[in-house]
Amino acid sequence: MDKFRIEGGHRLEGTLRVGGAKNAALPEMAACLLTGETIELRNLPRVRDIQTMARLLAHMSVETEGPEGEGESGRVRLRAATISHAEAPYDLVKTMRASVLVLGPLVGRTGYARVSMPGGCAIGARPIDLHLKALERLGAQITTEHGYVEARAKRLRGTRLLFDRITVTGTENVMMAATLAEGETILENAAREPEIADLARLLVAMGAKIEGASTSTIRIQGVPSLHAAEHKVIPDRIAAGTFLVAGAITGGDLLLEGVEPEHLDAVIDKLAECGVEIRREGGGLRVRGGAHAQAANVDTEEYPGFPTDMQAQYMALATQAEGTSIITETIFENRFLHASEMVRMGADISVRGNQAIVRGPTPLTGAAVIASDLRASASLVLAGLAAQGTTIVDRVYHIDRGYERIEEKLRSLGACIERFSA
Ligand code: EPU
Repeated sequence: MDKFRIEGGHRLEGTLRVGGAKNAALPEMAACLLTGETIELRNLPRVRDIQTMARLLAHMSVETEGPEGEGESGRVRLRAATISHAEAPYDLVKTMRASVLVLGPLVGRTGYARVSMPGGCAIGARPIDLHLKALERLGAQITTEHGYVEARAKRLRGTRLLFDRITVTGTENVMMAATLAEGETILENAAREPEIADLARLLVAMGAKIEGASTSTIRIQGVPSLHAAEHKVIPDRIAAGTFLVAGAITGGDLLLEGVEPEHLDAVIDKLAECGVEIRREGGGLRVRGGAHAQAANVDTEEYPGFPTDMQAQYMALATQAEGTSIITETIFENRFLHASEMVRMGADISVRGNQAIVRGPTPLTGAAVIASDLRASASLVLAGLAAQGTTIVDRVYHIDRGYERIEEKLRSLGACIERFSA
């Protein structure tokens, strides 16, 4: 199993290009199931979850070319001329929950889908009841047996739907299904994440009729069929945010290129409140970390609020900030597993329910730590960059799910980090 060895205490400096967004690319790959024609995605990140989605699509006999290349030349071509098994099997769903994104497109196009129920994961129970309830409202018959969900429908029928709670992949699944439904679907209390607007851009390029993606009311006029399209995936705002923290926590000076600064407003505002200098420069973002950051409280929220996917990385910075930061996690019920690992490195963090109280600054010292999920592993790498001595991060397969060769990128900026197998 791969691990990272990090020698902390090196200031990061230089320019970095941020890759495409995993959480936009995953639903966009699933969207290929809505048509028999070719979908080409560019700026595709070279991360494990993308390979898993490609395997899942290949299992259904989607013709795939790629994923290949990386950075801006990362691309995949997908053609779902026929779908042999409209099924997401347990083996793939258990390694990647986002496999559930094939449910909406499959039932929308073929009238049948069988998807293994995703179980809970390290960060929470993460049910898919809202996806299922919405598909039922569109006329699908849903049954759950032997750990699988089956959805059947002759043709889905548009209707007005209200999500009881905001769900990102739920909004994406239903938006995709509704593109081929009969009549109009109105999604209320829809998620507003930039990844949803990006998916809608692809769907519109495929011939779908969608209005309001990026607002909480999305209107979709069903069409009989969709067609080929090419699409460039938006930059990964969470990877960008992670590198902003890397610059801040090492007192560094980084220029991030290929980012979409508006997608990072909440993160930039919070880091600015901590005293981190961030400014737009030539279409990118420059971050300069100086003296100790100041503590600031954070509540995670749905977009446009502070993202739960940046909470762990922010906690690493808070351990180095002057004063007490109260971090409140409102999206997932168990997303503080990184806190106890940071405590082993010398941080002063107490967790009470959905709040973590971080008192800083405390000097961190390198230690052996275990990554529990994707963003937690990124936060431990950040803590390792700021720590004195050697940090060993175990289970870095989590980080490979969503960050493109992070150790090479950090090394190019002056970090002392290497991957090894043990
Ligand atoms: N929820 C339900 N029922 C549902 C769906 C969601 O109760 O049917 C609850 C969840 O348990 C959670 C909350 O609603 O408490 C929000 O979950 P959401 O459905 O929005 O999360 P998701 O769609 O499963 C996506 C991202 C996550 C990100 C969350 C929140 C993808 C592939 N995943 O997950 O990304 O944390 O939205 O922004 O887009 C990551 O990249 O590390 C990651 C975990």
